[in-house]
Amino acid sequence: MSRVPLIAGNWKMHKTVGEAEALIQALLPRVASLESVEIAVCPPFTALAPMVDSARGSRVAVFAQNMHEADHGAFTGEVSAAMLLDLGVSGVILGHSERRAFFGETDAALARKLPAALTAGLTPILCVGETEAQRLAGETEAHVRAQLESDFAAVEPERYAEVVVAYEPIWAIGTGRVATPAQAQEAVAFVRSVLAERSAEAERIRVLYGGSVSGENAVELLALADVDGALVGGASLTAESFAAICAAARQ
Ligand code: PGA
Repeated sequence: MSRVPLIAGNWKMHKTVGEAEALIQALLPRVASLESVEIAVCPPFTALAPMVDSARGSRVAVFAQNMHEADHGAFTGEVSAAMLLDLGVSGVILGHSERRAFFGETDAALARKLPAALTAGLTPILCVGETEAQRLAGETEAHVRAQLESDFAAVEPERYAEVVVAYEPIWAIGTGRVATPAQAQEAVAFVRSVLAERSAEAERIRVLYGGSVSGENAVELLALADVDGALVGGASLTAESFAAICAAARQ
């Protein structure tokens, strides 16, 4: 089963429109020839429309970092899938650990957001992963299983392969402490095995690794049998390092 790798850059709360423009202009020529890799950038909401304009006709898709599950309504501060599509956005990160930890994102909400994104035609990148305490307590698999089972609860089994899952150990995010290749492969294969219990499409689901991915460690991580790409934070904020990770996915 050959799955097209996806490298997604999560810019988090970085980049004004001017800074985003400089980054995308530096990135586009560096990734223009990487044909067997899908590439997405995930700017803050304020830079989505200009990034869609700048990336039009290129190999780079533009994803959002969050959305609300409703089409519209009295939800101050939120945006819907329809609003993202209207801008030309093609996907959305859901359930990032920072949203879960700092903004009260729950598995119950994700169980609504995941089908809402699919129904709208957005590609969701669902993030799951354990804390350091959970890993040390031997609870990684139970925790990741619980997240997947809750978050996929309302996704029809035949649509599973339209979801991208990012396994991101929380202790590796923004810390420089990347998971070892063995840890990454084991957890990503576990994600696929849990999804395979529920859907015949599991072999087609792309499962990414995220957490301190860099231009230096990307080749080793992306060569792992079950790792179908990366969700990149810090190293996506400069064109050189993000392009190096995209190039590593091609090998
Ligand atoms: P990092 O972030 O690459 O800076 O560790 C990854 C993420 O939060 O998705």
